[in-house]
Amino acid sequence: MVTIFQISFNIKHSEIDDEIEKLAAIDLYSTYYEEPFQVTVDSNGYGYYEKEEEIINMRVFPETGSREECIGCIDKIRNLLDINEEIILSELKDDNWQEPFEPIDLENGWIIAEPNVPAESLKKINFESQGSFGTGLHETTQDFLRYILEYDFTGLTVLDLGTGSGILSIAAGLKNAKRIVALDIRDVTSEVMYNAALNNLENIEVVVADVTLKNSGINEKFDAVFINIGGEETLASMELINAVIKQDGILIVSGLVEWSSNDICKELEAQGYQLVKSTKTNEWVTMILKRL
Ligand SMILES: C[S@@+](CC[C@H](N)C(=O)[O-])C[C@H]1O[C@@H](n2cnc3c(N)ncnc32)[C@H](O)[C@@H]1O
Repeated sequence: MVTIFQISFNIKHSEIDDEIEKLAAIDLYSTYYEEPFQVTVDSNGYGYYEKEEEIINMRVFPETGSREECIGCIDKIRNLLDINEEIILSELKDDNWQEPFEPIDLENGWIIAEPNVPAESLKKINFESQGSFGTGLHETTQDFLRYILEYDFTGLTVLDLGTGSGILSIAAGLKNAKRIVALDIRDVTSEVMYNAALNNLENIEVVVADVTLKNSGINEKFDAVFINIGGEETLASMELINAVIKQDGILIVSGLVEWSSNDICKELEAQGYQLVKSTKTNEWVTMILKRL
């Protein structure tokens, strides 16, 4: 029977990026926590914000089957993260081990699943959720992935705005994109690189920047730009997108809701894009556009 050890402790959500970086410095890469999102509804659709001040339960899975080594890890974690409160060590037997998420069947011949899940006759995106948005559960992400996975990105460069877990970048990499820049306002580097490595991808670069600001630091042109943040954010990032997308390049936009997607489409057409295709799942709209 496989024994998996879990070390868990509470930390402030606002400190999560720093803490994950520190854990990686002592070779603890496998972590899991629930992102504390507050969902909001407005004319732009559903939004969310992260509750920065929330205390979250961080779970760390050392790559060892030895209790003694885990106790050593706890001492290191306590010192490194300066934790005075309780740190719990538990043993997860394979019969009570809860997978962070169930495999997701995209129903196009691809599944998203953890590395130990057999793909059977399907193609697979290896993925372990580390907490960022983008496990592939949301309709917008699933529709987006289906578009990417039916496309051939061979030789193309991709800019993934609001990359989150990096799942869209990874899908583009699996469809042979030449180079991918995965950008997010949060530092998601360790999560994206970890999942990229699970898929043997070495051509994803992570950039921390705000898409709505003029100087994002992106100075090259891309064949394809992805954005799945929301309608308002898409419009607010058009200055950046217009500056970096190649002529005839493709822009894939998701995270739009049906009650504002037409207006957003009209605005994008006015800015020199042509709608190629669009899909709707429930109220969520995803569009492919071409830069004229
Ligand atoms: C809805 S999630 C999408 C994640 C992933 N791309 C997917 O499709 O599942 C939106 C992501 O955009 C990021 N984000 C929100 N506002 C942003 C901004 N102004 N600039 C850059 N990234 C932003 C968030 O941190 C989050 O990771």
